[in-house]
Amino acid sequence: MSIRIDGKATAAQVRAEIKEKVDQLKLDGFKLPHLAAVLVGSDGGSKSYVSGKMKACEEVGFKSSLIEKHETTTEEELLQIVRDLNEDSGVDGYIVQLPLPKHISEQKVLETISPDKDVDGFHPLNMGKMVAGLDCFKPATPFGILELLRRYEIETSGKHCVVIGRSHIVGTPLSIMLSRNSYPGNCTVTLTHSRTKNLSTLTKMADILIVALGQPEFVTNNMVKPGAVVIDVGTTRVKDASRERGWRLSGDVDYKRVKEKASYITPVPGGVGPMTIASLMTNTLQAAKGKRP
Ligand code: GUN
Repeated sequence: MSIRIDGKATAAQVRAEIKEKVDQLKLDGFKLPHLAAVLVGSDGGSKSYVSGKMKACEEVGFKSSLIEKHETTTEEELLQIVRDLNEDSGVDGYIVQLPLPKHISEQKVLETISPDKDVDGFHPLNMGKMVAGLDCFKPATPFGILELLRRYEIETSGKHCVVIGRSHIVGTPLSIMLSRNSYPGNCTVTLTHSRTKNLSTLTKMADILIVALGQPEFVTNNMVKPGAVVIDVGTTRVKDASRERGWRLSGDVDYKRVKEKASYITPVPGGVGPMTIASLMTNTLQAAKGKRP
């Protein structure tokens, strides 16, 4: 039997701590931190993520703005929105929700975001600073996972951490952050991906297994070492006729079985997802403070 890592409750705690700081800023006469989000298209998952981010802003006392654009928005139109947000002194930080429609270059858009306002931490300058161990906006999902490990006081030093998935948003930055000389960190990290051979031989060696693949229930019981810490980053909508809305969120881990073998495990939903949003709030507060005299 494992301990369920409650990301929902931990994220609520992080938000409460941020709210206290925002209340103090207000008392000190500073303006409220302001996060903007740009959403292009009508993907259901992206919409619900962005609405979660806006709701969190309200809860912690931030100002928020949502810029919603049609699927057919051109790359140049989006780049102009980004440049305008860079210039808008009322906005402390902003995000462009990914994925973008195929006709828009994500890389071009991310490179146009001002690094000072890049609260997602996706700009190459922030990525580079993160790799160099310098002060920067850390990508929200890896940051949220580290915060869960910290708050559950999970030992990481000298542990073998296997990460499945090498995305720019999760797997790659997480593998770097976990190998740093700090806590959480000091792990020996194996970053695995679609070309990895004998994956389950590696996963069975993991003290900490982090799965960010987007394939429902990919990790089964027999891929996990007894007593491993299992962090599930997957959130895929799968059909479920028993639900009124017709779908449910599925993680990348067969939770029911793996929880019998792990020492700690994150559920989906209610694990990593809420922590991603909480970390975005932390970054936005940092962006607002960075601008203060
Ligand atoms: N799409 C999936 N995760 C994220 C995220 O953390 N930020 C943005 N902007 N888009 C995403």
